Amino acid sequence: MSGLALELTGVTAGYGTTTVLRDVDLAVPPGKVVALLGANGAGKTTVLKTAAGLIRPSAGRIRLGGADVTARTPYQRSHRGLCLVPEGRGVFPNLTVRENIVLLGPQGSARDSIEKALTVFPALRGRLGHRAGDLSGGQQQMLALSRCFTGKPDVVLLDEVSMGLAPIVVDQIFEALHALARTGAALLLVEQYIGKALELADHVYLLDRGAISFSGSPAQLDEDELVRRYLHVEPDADGPADIIISGEQR
Ligand SMILES: Nc1ncnc2c1ncn2[C@@H]1O[C@H](COP(=O)(O)OP(=O)(O)OP(=O)(O)O)[C@@H](O)[C@H]1O
Ligand SMILES: [Mg+2]
Repeated sequence: MSGLALELTGVTAGYGTTTVLRDVDLAVPPGKVVALLGANGAGKTTVLKTAAGLIRPSAGRIRLGGADVTARTPYQRSHRGLCLVPEGRGVFPNLTVRENIVLLGPQGSARDSIEKALTVFPALRGRLGHRAGDLSGGQQQMLALSRCFTGKPDVVLLDEVSMGLAPIVVDQIFEALHALARTGAALLLVEQYIGKALELADHVYLLDRGAISFSGSPAQLDEDELVRRYLHVEPDADGPADIIISGEQR
C-alpha cells in the first residue's frame, strides 16, 4: 500500500500510434494539492485523462488509494472516489441547472446535492430551472465544479477550470478550489494561472513534452526560470502572481 490518494508509475500513453506521455511518475497524497504545469501541448490533459481511465496507458500503473485501477473503467474509478472536471464546461447545456446538479452528483440524494451546491455557489440559487447552456461562463464552471462538493470525492482532477473567465470570476473559482481543498479532497490541478496555482499547491510537477522535468515544492521554483525555461510564457501585465501561459504552440 502506497498511502497515496492517486499514483501514476511509469505511465506511457498517447493516442493511436502517437506516444504523448513517457514514463510519467506522479503522486498525489491524501488531502494535498498538486499542481501539474507545462506548456501547451505538453500532455497535461492526457495525464488527467489517463488517470481518469479515458485513455488506457501502454505501460505503467495507476493506483487510487493504494489499489491498482489500471484496468478499471472511468465509471469504476469514479465509484472509488475519483472525480474529473474536464476541459471546457463540463455541464449538459440542454438540461437545467437542477438536473445537472442531480445528474453529476451521487445517486439518490438529489435534495442534499442541490443544497450543498447552492451553499458553495450561491450564484446558482435562482437559476435552478434555467438551461445550463444559458448561464454565464463562470456560472457554468461553478455548476461543473458543484459535483466535487456533492459527491465527496477523495481525488479531484481539474483541467483548467478558470479558462476564459473574467478575472473576478477566476478569483471566485479559486476561492471554491481553496474550499474544496479544505474538505480534505486531494486535488490534481492543471492551471494557466500559475501564480494562483502555486499559492494553493503543496507540490508541483512540470511536464515537458510528455515527461516530468521537475518535481518539488512551490518554494523551490523560481517563477522567472519557470516561465523562461519550462513554460515559454510571457509575464502578464498584472505581474508574476497572474502569469498566464500564452497561446504558444510547440
Ligand atoms: N485526441 C487526440 N488525438 C491525437 N492527438 C492528441 C489528442 N489529444 C491531444 N493530442 C496530442 O497530444 C499532445 C498533448 O496534448 P494535451 O491536450 O494532453 O496537452 P496539454 O498539455 O493539455 O495542452 P494545453 O495546454 O493546450 O491544454 C499534443 O501534441 C496534442 O496534439
Ligand atoms: Mg489541456
